[in-house]
Amino acid sequence: MATIKIHCLGILLLTLCLTCTKGSVKRSIDLSASHVLIPDIRLPTDVIPLDYELYIEPNLEEYTFTGVVKINFDKPTLFENITILRGDRMPRKTVYVLYLKETVKQGTEGLLEIPFEGGIWESAEGLFRGSYTNTATKETEEYLTTYMRPNNARRVFPCFDEPGIKVPFAVSIARPKEYTVLFNTPLERTLEHSTLKNYVIDHFEKTPAMSTFTFGFIISKLMKFEDAAINEKSPSAPKIQVWSNQIDKSELKEIHARLLTVYNTIQDYFNVSVPLKKIDVVAVPGLTTVRPSDNWGLLVLKESELLKKSYLSFAQELIYQWIGSWVTPYWWSDAHVNKALASFLASEIAIQIDGGVEFNGKYPMTLLYSLYYELSKRYPHSRITGMKQETVSFKTELVIRMLNFTLGKSTFHNGVRNFIADHHYKTFIGDDLWNMLTKQALSDKTLDGQYSITDIASSWITKDRLPVVNVQRNYETRSALLQQKVYLRERPHDVPEQDKMLWWIPITLNRQDTLNFSECKPYVWINKTRQINISNLPESNQFIIINHEEIGPFPVNYDERNWNMLSNFLQTESGRTLIPTLTRAKLLHDAWNLAYAGDLSFATAFNMTLFMKFERNHIVWNPVFTFIDHIGRHIDMSAVHKKFEAYVTTLLAPLYEELGPENTPEEYWRTDLRSLAKTFLCRAGYRPCIEEAQKAYKVWQQSSDPDYENPVPNQYICPVFKWGSIEEWEFGLQRVIQFPKSRVQSERTYLLKTLAGCPSQPEKINRLLDLTILQQNINFTENDIFLIFSMLTGGSSGYTTLFNFLSEHWVAIRERFANKTNLWDSLISSATGVFSTQKGYDMVKKLYEEHPGEFGSAQHIIEKSLRNIKEEAQWSDQNLPVIEKWLDNYLSQNNEKNQK
Ligand SMILES: *[C@@H]1O[C@H](CO)[C@@H](O)[C@H](O)[C@H]1NC(C)=O
Ligand SMILES: *[C@@H]1O[C@H](CO)[C@@H](O)[C@H](O)[C@H]1NC(C)=O
Ligand SMILES: *[C@@H]1O[C@H](CO)[C@@H](O)[C@H](O)[C@H]1NC(C)=O
Ligand SMILES: *[C@@H]1O[C@H](CO)[C@@H](O)[C@H](O)[C@H]1NC(C)=O
Ligand SMILES: *[C@@H]1O[C@H](CO)[C@@H](O)[C@H](O)[C@H]1NC(C)=O
Ligand SMILES: *[C@@H]1O[C@H](CO)[C@@H](O)[C@H](O)[C@H]1NC(C)=O
Ligand SMILES: *[C@@H]1O[C@H](CO)[C@@H](O)[C@H](O)[C@H]1NC(C)=O
Ligand SMILES: *[C@@H]1O[C@H](CO)[C@@H](O)[C@H](O)[C@H]1NC(C)=O
Repeated sequence: MATIKIHCLGILLLTLCLTCTKGSVKRSIDLSASHVLIPDIRLPTDVIPLDYELYIEPNLEEYTFTGVVKINFDKPTLFENITILRGDRMPRKTVYVLYLKETVKQGTEGLLEIPFEGGIWESAEGLFRGSYTNTATKETEEYLTTYMRPNNARRVFPCFDEPGIKVPFAVSIARPKEYTVLFNTPLERTLEHSTLKNYVIDHFEKTPAMSTFTFGFIISKLMKFEDAAINEKSPSAPKIQVWSNQIDKSELKEIHARLLTVYNTIQDYFNVSVPLKKIDVVAVPGLTTVRPSDNWGLLVLKESELLKKSYLSFAQELIYQWIGSWVTPYWWSDAHVNKALASFLASEIAIQIDGGVEFNGKYPMTLLYSLYYELSKRYPHSRITGMKQETVSFKTELVIRMLNFTLGKSTFHNGVRNFIADHHYKTFIGDDLWNMLTKQALSDKTLDGQYSITDIASSWITKDRLPVVNVQRNYETRSALLQQKVYLRERPHDVPEQDKMLWWIPITLNRQDTLNFSECKPYVWINKTRQINISNLPESNQFIIINHEEIGPFPVNYDERNWNMLSNFLQTESGRTLIPTLTRAKLLHDAWNLAYAGDLSFATAFNMTLFMKFERNHIVWNPVFTFIDHIGRHIDMSAVHKKFEAYVTTLLAPLYEELGPENTPEEYWRTDLRSLAKTFLCRAGYRPCIEEAQKAYKVWQQSSDPDYENPVPNQYICPVFKWGSIEEWEFGLQRVIQFPKSRVQSERTYLLKTLAGCPSQPEKINRLLDLTILQQNINFTENDIFLIFSMLTGGSSGYTTLFNFLSEHWVAIRERFANKTNLWDSLISSATGVFSTQKGYDMVKKLYEEHPGEFGSAQHIIEKSLRNIKEEAQWSDQNLPVIEKWLDNYLSQNNEKNQK
């Protein structure tokens, strides 16, 4: 018995028809890997459609729709009516199977006609609805639109819903007369509806061959911007038309001009225009899709997104018109390459247009640092599974960036152009891009004849890890040993199979005697071997820098002598200006994280921070706040912490004073940097900051109705709760207790969080615990208690007080939480999990031994805590003395200097 399988989630009205089938086979490359987020079975390839004829009729009163799809298999001339025995949805799958009475010969031509109907929901999948207020008339206006990515077309009509199946669509859509329908292609003609008086039917031009996920339409009363400039630079390009809810004309003019600029820049980059007559860009107020709906020729996005006028996001969306819609990933497992390439090229385009102003200099740091953290964990992506997909495409984007630099702009550019030209209307797999780049690089001689980009790229993309390169110079022979290993930051470094992981790594080299940071050609590639030697290095009194500007996504470690030469150079004015921003940031970021990982002495890492006293660039400063936070938490319980805070103050105070008071208007980074500096200075107990905070807080204390509103800016609250008096803190506590139900509850949450998380005096925390746990004050919910526990893990004073409180009131607390295992578990985890010294270990161990068999559901939690503390204590034993010695030394020198 023969079958036809088709994707479908709606209701099929199969009684009506079916005329035929056939089975011509057009096979594509079979990729078995499937996208983890799309657990789907693939359709067999023996029945593939040639085109679709589709009619959709929505009912705006009942929020339903009906329609008919006619799917042609080859030219529908020879009809052979075939009986359908039955049809069935596959259990728990969105696949419908039609069982035919007889076997159909290969090559049979035919037509499958299926009426369907369905509901229009509010969630943004398939065909959905929404509404907004018309700015001019203040009326509520409804709209219907579609979001088909990745596989929601089947929610609307039965179809072969795979990206690799690209065929033309002839579409007509019914609408009430007062609405407009925008579809992938331009309107061809409008006819009266034969039965519904107030409806007409719009027939659209046949689309080019395209995938179902790029199919889309919108039915709305949004208005077209009529005064748009014509595209003088590129008259043959598709007409870009903006639709919106009465956005201001001058605003629209600018938006339209920016869209044209972006379109033309992309077109120049690809050296080809997309084969469309128009691209409608539709701004919908309050659209609920997470991402814009980037249908071919029809971009539907949030109004707020359009109003940002961001070159980067316009570029991102318009690039999908080429790669995504015209040139399409064969399956979802290839989509990450598509996304990464689109995202990289969008950055390239945005940088070409405005020189990178929009990035605020942060490309690609934001992406890169988050990858460095995530992929150096013991268990990457353990928290959020959806993140894994994101990480894969970030990493792929950084690999593409690495290729752009190491192969050279022109090789990369031509490779991408050829790749596009080769795949018009077709699909690609990841390797198609890498192969095209290899071909181009070999012909341009920018890659060694034995190398292949496919091997290079896959060594990065197939692993959930990044490498670190260790550089050990031999100053006598002017050579160096370069070794690669897996980069692990979180301890213990017990990742299995790490010896088997090897990468292809480009080694770009800068030497102090011939610094040239525009040279990005690798000095050598580490060819997926553990280690190599390089020679012809400079004299022993000159440093080298490898992987400047983060050309490849990997940290680099050096020997101590090279690090210290770098540190000294950066402390000179002339030196600092010679090393570009991203490279300064990288040196600092690498040194610090390698020390954290246990691969570099903290003394050397602290040496690398000395130049920050003079550093004024926010890009170099930004990661510093993360380090201060990480390290601060780690040493929080020891006496070293005070010294560390003193050091932080010597670094930050000059910066803060130089930034001066807030000026409006000023650059965003200035405001941002000032506020970060202030937060950390306050945390470190910088007097001027605390006094300022207390002054602001007093206004609230003296207000006649303090529960009505809180006049203190958030930034002042934590310093007051941390460094202020018990009375000030108690005042805050009373505000939480008496917080009116009518006020925004997130303000209460913020207060409670800071009340618990900020203080350093145990008496404040004891008071809170006593009130909420022992006295069971009715104004605190269970969620409040969870929140308090979790906030107390933020500092040693917090979790140590919690621990002591638990030890002291063991019996009472156990009884109180006897039937609340969640709270109990959370308490044990917060009270024991964050210690990081031997002393902490001994305390927790004692508690554990004093109460055998009494931990109940939290037994495994405290056992895990003990294991973790052991690990952390080892870290502290190793590093605290080094840190303390460095700080003592620095602070005594600094005091001497100040006294002179
Ligand atoms: C097949 O069915 C269609 C529609 O029911 C009918 O118009 C046509 O004559 C039939 N063709 C044959 C060969 O039976
Ligand atoms: C751009 O495309 C045109 C034809 O489409 C071709 O003649 C021209 O050489 C191309 N330019 C580049 C730089 O590839
Ligand atoms: C690609 O490389 C060139 C230099 O080869 C550089 O100017 C350009 O900014 C790079 N593009 C991106 C987006 O990093
Ligand atoms: C730096 O490198 C670039 C790219 O290779 C080259 O064009 C330039 O001449 C070099 N500059 C110096 C001063 O050597
Ligand atoms: C790397 O290069 C070395 C020396 O040229 C060679 O012996 C080795 O086989 C290469 N390894 C790989 C994986 O290509
Ligand atoms: C830190 O820098 C000082 C001054 O340059 C140097 O004497 C010391 O050896 C450095 N310490 C380490 C561990 O690199
Ligand atoms: C809870 O808060 C209300 C005011 O919102 C207050 O009157 C009451 O005394 C509080 N209850 C306790 C037990 O403190
Ligand atoms: C806990 O639950 C048990 C049985 O459900 C009940 O008998 C007991 O009184 C409860 N204990 C407390 C403290 O609520």
